[in-house]
Amino acid sequence: MKILIINGPNLNLLGKREPEVYGDQSFEAYFENLKLKFKEVELEYFQSNIEGELIGKIQEVGFSYDGIVLNAAAYTHTSVGIGDAIKAVESPVVEVHISNTHQREQFRHVSYISPNAKGVILGFGLKSYELAIRSFLE
Ligand code: DQA
Repeated sequence: MKILIINGPNLNLLGKREPEVYGDQSFEAYFENLKLKFKEVELEYFQSNIEGELIGKIQEVGFSYDGIVLNAAAYTHTSVGIGDAIKAVESPVVEVHISNTHQREQFRHVSYISPNAKGVILGFGLKSYELAIRSFLE
């Protein structure tokens, strides 16, 4: 089973960025824990702050990987292009968010990812990623 985690803009700053919202752990450190937890899964990780690079990666893996776990971050609320890319590929995509976006500003209540995602997991902190991976296994 091959799963790619894709993180969008500013998620490279996890651990430093608004720790009261996103926690104090870097994604790199958390990813090491994930790999230990899911030894049976071929887990990969990609992060970019650039919309086109995120679309390129979805296209690149989206016809061969078993699943994509996508936190498109701020692009969730703006990107028709990422939404279309998810629709275009065959691999199922689970949308994740660290925070509960529905408890936050109104503009975060809109997602261009959700209509084309297999499912959505949000609000469980970094654990949202673990729950998303589990959804592919069970
Ligand atoms: C986020 C929520 C988004 O609204 C925000 O722009 C992010 C992170 C989350 O994981 O909670 O960058 O996707």
